[in-house]
Amino acid sequence: MFEGKLTVCENAETLARLAADLVRQTIEACVQQQGACSIALPGGATPARCLQNLAADKLPWPSLQWFMGDERCLPVGDIARNDTMIRQTLFAGNAQAVKNFHPIDAELGAETAAQRYSALVDAVGRFDLILLGMGEDGHTASLFPGNKALQDTRPAVPVFDAPKPPPERVSLGLKTLTAARQRIILVAGSNKHAALKRIKHGEQLPVNCLGESHWFIDREAAGDLFD
Ligand code: 6PG
Repeated sequence: MFEGKLTVCENAETLARLAADLVRQTIEACVQQQGACSIALPGGATPARCLQNLAADKLPWPSLQWFMGDERCLPVGDIARNDTMIRQTLFAGNAQAVKNFHPIDAELGAETAAQRYSALVDAVGRFDLILLGMGEDGHTASLFPGNKALQDTRPAVPVFDAPKPPPERVSLGLKTLTAARQRIILVAGSNKHAALKRIKHGEQLPVNCLGESHWFIDREAAGDLFD
């Protein structure tokens, strides 16, 4: 099932705006309480829209540390890398944000990059917020159903044979995603309806085994599942 809060949005644009508003509010509260905030960011087209909205918001940028929820093992600067999308959306023209950005060295290969990122994640401890997307098969970050990476208990894990190209990736491990203080999950598009239906009918997929999360789902993905 869907643990936590669920917001069904009229369309993907509204979802992007409402989710960006919650990210901003969560960040502001976190900085208010503890003077800093650590956020892990996703890849994908749905999150990109949200991050474009967030980029225009007034955030306490110097107090924020940014991380990746996952990265594809491609050369630095490759258009298909998740951090390329992050730099083109959330960090566009914002040198302060980039100063506090900790990308995954996925160009070094999954195992080496996962070991290096695990050390960084260990130093962070629990993330204050992790923003996630969901794939058509119910994957999140780069944790795919039935993949060996789901059993890896390290803070960051290597992923091989990913069904969504490229096959080699690095992802925050299940333990890290589950330990985060808050999770926001973004789901838009009719191609996500089948996975949502499987979850509604009780199936455990990577995206819905993380604990309490705030789900933003657009009408196209939701259909009549929540009516
Ligand atoms: C990736 C992402 C992945 C993404 C979902 C949703 O590397 O592909 O990290 O987890 O967030 O697949 O992507 P879309 O919104 O583009 O469907």
